[in-house]
Amino acid sequence: MKKPEKINQGIRERRSHVIFSPESLSHEIIRLLVEAARWAPSSFNQQPWRFIYARREENDEWLHMFDLLLPGNREWVQHHVPVLMMTLAEMVPSGRKEPNIYAWHDVGLATSQLLVQAASMGLATHPMGGFDREKAMEVMRIPEPFRPVAMLALGYPGRPEDVPEGLVQRDRKERTRNPPETMLFRGRWGTETGR
Ligand SMILES: Cc1cc2nc3c(=O)[nH]c(=O)nc-3n(C[C@H](O)[C@H](O)[C@H](O)COP(=O)(O)O)c2cc1C
Repeated sequence: MKKPEKINQGIRERRSHVIFSPESLSHEIIRLLVEAARWAPSSFNQQPWRFIYARREENDEWLHMFDLLLPGNREWVQHHVPVLMMTLAEMVPSGRKEPNIYAWHDVGLATSQLLVQAASMGLATHPMGGFDREKAMEVMRIPEPFRPVAMLALGYPGRPEDVPEGLVQRDRKERTRNPPETMLFRGRWGTETGR
């Protein structure tokens, strides 16, 4: 097998943007992103993911979703995130009594595919956990046994001159990760992988 030189381009490009262009995404592009998500693996192919989205030009729908965000997220989303999406998990598969313990895991997998697909297309994304879940159940009319998992900001990258300076600083902040040796073990917990 050929040795991979680099990680996948979409993974390399993806980051959580805070500077968005007001330009909206077409329904077709949004459907394409969900198509990438739809092909994610899931436990017993149960596909527990659901997605609800709103575009800013469909003003009422977008505002309902915007209102769910906690203040820290509203601060940057208002400049000028054009599309908000909520990911949801079916906690108990239809016709069954036992919960699907992989529901959130699999929604995460699907979401990751969506985000990487978006990055590979030059789009800007940002996942958020900071929103009111109880209110979301009511406002978005979410039925049992579904639960909101995350919200996503989606759009095109924007221009620094169109947003407040604080966001420009935040966008420039260095991205960091824990070193591989703290998360990758060989054979059993805590052993070093060596080289
Ligand atoms: C489940 C989840 C919840 C998150 N919640 C928020 C949030 O509420 N607000 C925010 O600004 N960023 C949020 N983030 C973005 C993370 O802060 C970001 O992914 C992390 O700092 C790594 O940066 P990167 O995405 O640029 O690689 C969230 C990310 C995930 C996956």
